[in-house]
Amino acid sequence: MKGLILSGGKGTRLRPLTFTQAKQLVPVANKPVLFYGIEALNEAGIEDIGIIVGDTKDEIKEAVGDGSRWGIRIAYIEQEAPLGLAHAVKISEDFLGKEPFVMYLGDNILKSGIKSLVEEFKEKEPNSLILLTEVPNPQMFGVAELKDGKVVKLVEKPKEPMSNLALVGVYMFDYHVFEAVNAIKPSWRDELEITDAIQYLVDKGYNVHPHLVTGWWKDTGKIEDILEANLLILETISSQIDGEVDESSKINGQVILEKGVVVKNSIIRGPAIIGSDTEIIDSYIGPFTSIQKGCKIIRTEIEHSIVLEGSEIQDVGSRIDDSLVGREVKIYKCPPKPSVYRFMVGDKSEIGIK
Ligand code: G1P
Repeated sequence: MKGLILSGGKGTRLRPLTFTQAKQLVPVANKPVLFYGIEALNEAGIEDIGIIVGDTKDEIKEAVGDGSRWGIRIAYIEQEAPLGLAHAVKISEDFLGKEPFVMYLGDNILKSGIKSLVEEFKEKEPNSLILLTEVPNPQMFGVAELKDGKVVKLVEKPKEPMSNLALVGVYMFDYHVFEAVNAIKPSWRDELEITDAIQYLVDKGYNVHPHLVTGWWKDTGKIEDILEANLLILETISSQIDGEVDESSKINGQVILEKGVVVKNSIIRGPAIIGSDTEIIDSYIGPFTSIQKGCKIIRTEIEHSIVLEGSEIQDVGSRIDDSLVGREVKIYKCPPKPSVYRFMVGDKSEIGIK
């Protein structure tokens, strides 16, 4: 079985971060989202993965490499424009050949991985296996309607959803999917939709097996979802202290301090992860916080947040909460006179002040 991970797209819902970074490389618990997908496929025994890349291909290739770090082979397939998930399948026919495959959307994370699902697919041998989960906002997803446990209808982002069952961004197919992706026409948004391809399989009488996912699943397309995924992953970590903590600091709960971390006169209340060479001084780091490498957090309180590498946050008067701070950002206190806010903020940034 092969793997196909989709890592193109523009990530418009994550601007401004995605002006300078691929959405699939935004870190969750200090690891790029995309790596969770690669590791889930690897854990399910898949050793040949094709990654679909678009405008951000150089960055993705540099971060991921040839797969040797996981002991697998990774090939890159270039999609000239984001023309849809079914289009991605279409251009991967040479890579996939006649082998069944898992298609995994590179910004998705599933708590329990996909090992048992791949086993189910191998055992039952349907033409396709789709994952569904109940969501409160089905109009944001592809939605499936089941009748007597069988898939009868799939609609991409319906205005009036027929059910609350969303398509999770992990799909399994055999080679019949190529017949489908070659037959369907672009949707109203000018994309070849995978939902339409699966509907084609259903209509032609192919066996599309639905599997209801009960553990958590996150599509990290928006900041709230990234923070939530960060929380869910941090809940599973175990303490590992490789940094230096002085006597006037306290570390509570599950906390990972990577090499070269310096903690002085601070409280870190886990679960939290602090990346290498970051300094935490006279500060409070609260639960569900991931701070990447090379940051400085000084006289600041922060929790339920993500801070990317090389950023410096100093003397912020109130606790920072629910925040995603990009790379090499500086947040500091202005001199007391004149009493002003001073910003140098990129396009599409969002700043909440009291
Ligand atoms: C895509 C699919 C949608 C699916 C979702 C899961 O949507 O088109 O059917 O429910 O992924 O993450 P997108 O995230 O591209 O809007």
